[in-house]
Amino acid sequence: MEYKRITLDYKSLDPYIDDRTLDLHYNAHYRNYTDKLNKYLNDINYDYKDSPIYLAKHIDILPMENRDEILFNLGGYLNHSLYFYNLTNKKKDIPIELLNLINKYFGSFSLFKEEFIDMAMEVKGSGYTFLVMDKNNKLRIINTSNQDTPYYYGFTPIMTIDVWEHAYYLKYTYLRKKYLENIFDIIDFDKVYKLYLDNIV
Ligand SMILES: [Fe+2]
Repeated sequence: MEYKRITLDYKSLDPYIDDRTLDLHYNAHYRNYTDKLNKYLNDINYDYKDSPIYLAKHIDILPMENRDEILFNLGGYLNHSLYFYNLTNKKKDIPIELLNLINKYFGSFSLFKEEFIDMAMEVKGSGYTFLVMDKNNKLRIINTSNQDTPYYYGFTPIMTIDVWEHAYYLKYTYLRKKYLENIFDIIDFDKVYKLYLDNIV
């Protein structure tokens, strides 16, 4: 058994993300994290009894041996799974229930977008920006470095934008802000809201 990449329900996100970047990102980078995660888990004879999210929430069950490598690739697997899951080639309205939550926590959708992009512009080196739920179901925006996932810090991610250069550099070069502004137009907020509902505690 092994963990598998999610299946994309779109073939192209052009012109928001060019096909070459999408292909390399999904078929090379994401595959590489998935393959390495499975390799390191096989090395410790992991039984795949638990979901990768459970594993990320309970890293103590992993032996110290190879833990760093497993966590890096587990984060890479989970972060990319969420990133690709979040994207869509079919633009939709934001569910009113989610919009109400965004208004409650961020003031308005435009303020939410502005804060999210400002945070993503602050990522030093490689990392991600996430919309997360905390333990009281409150929404907030956080950054993580490299492949750290919010689960490692007690948060549940429901939306992310990959801010590693491999996510945008071929098309946008150093214009990270342009990438961030454009990608907001291909976020599937139905899925973001579904994850919110699935994770309410
Ligand atoms: Fe990536």
